[in-house]
Amino acid sequence: MNPDKRTEDLFGIIGYPLSHTMSPYLHNFVAKRTALNFHYTTFEVKPGKLERAVEGARALGIGGLNVTVPYKQKVIPLLDRISEEAKEIGAVNTIKNQGGELRGFNTDLLGFSRTLKEEKVDLEGGKVVILGAGGAARAVLYSLIKKDIDQIVIYNRTLENARKLARELSEKMGSLEFSYHQLDENKLRKDLENARLLVNTTPVGMYPKTDKSPIEDVNLNKNLIVFDLIYNPPRTKLLARAETEGAKTINGLDMLIYQGIEALNIWMEREINTGLVPDLRNYLKQKLKND
Ligand code: ATR
Repeated sequence: MNPDKRTEDLFGIIGYPLSHTMSPYLHNFVAKRTALNFHYTTFEVKPGKLERAVEGARALGIGGLNVTVPYKQKVIPLLDRISEEAKEIGAVNTIKNQGGELRGFNTDLLGFSRTLKEEKVDLEGGKVVILGAGGAARAVLYSLIKKDIDQIVIYNRTLENARKLARELSEKMGSLEFSYHQLDENKLRKDLENARLLVNTTPVGMYPKTDKSPIEDVNLNKNLIVFDLIYNPPRTKLLARAETEGAKTINGLDMLIYQGIEALNIWMEREINTGLVPDLRNYLKQKLKND
């Protein structure tokens, strides 16, 4: 970033905690590669401080923000305008500050869909099990509803949050079979026997608490695809287990990359050339190794 920087050329991520995040490496790599004049940093926002943080960003004229756990839903009432898609999903992960007007978007949906496509995951007629019912789960669900799958089952720590999500989504489900449960490993074990895809949308297992897994004692069979939205560490305890059982695994790195590039497209009002993705992926993998 040039010394004649303006705050509108400053971007960042809000969330708590943020020790795991690779977003600054991602965005600053793109800035360097594309010679776009911006800088990206982390703004860790402690519980109870979200409103003041968002107002501070508006007052300072910061160009835009990414939003992560636990604020993707909580941030919505603090914004002036929400894109149709983010409104439908009920979660915002990208904010653009347009001359003091804060606009909310969701680029997680695109990040998730694009990763499934690149990984050639075929879900037609299959069953998907989702762990979690927060902001990331909402984007995942929206992406899946548009696919030709038969059944979605959600498991969440707090049943009420899953119920709320189910209520909001019920009209959009069509003929899709949909159910939700409190996280219970016995029930989950049965559900996974004939599932095609398991998606972890919770932060359980993320750096620095890498010894944790959202499910501890459930066998993951080799016909299952296990997608953990976490990218730090690249191989979570859940994915390591899935690999041992011979299942195909996908971590959250490509989803991070695609949602990040889409956020930049929104902020910069131009299309970032995705030709830089392979180099960016290698760079982030290297950073994750050294972290
Ligand atoms: P955001 O909306 O920003 O993604 P969130 O609403 O906190 O953040 O969502 C995080 C998801 O991970 C939720 O489904 C949360 O479960 P609750 O609905 O019970 O809060 C889940 N989650 C977070 N920490 C968890 C933990 N330690 N064990 C199990 N699930 C957890």
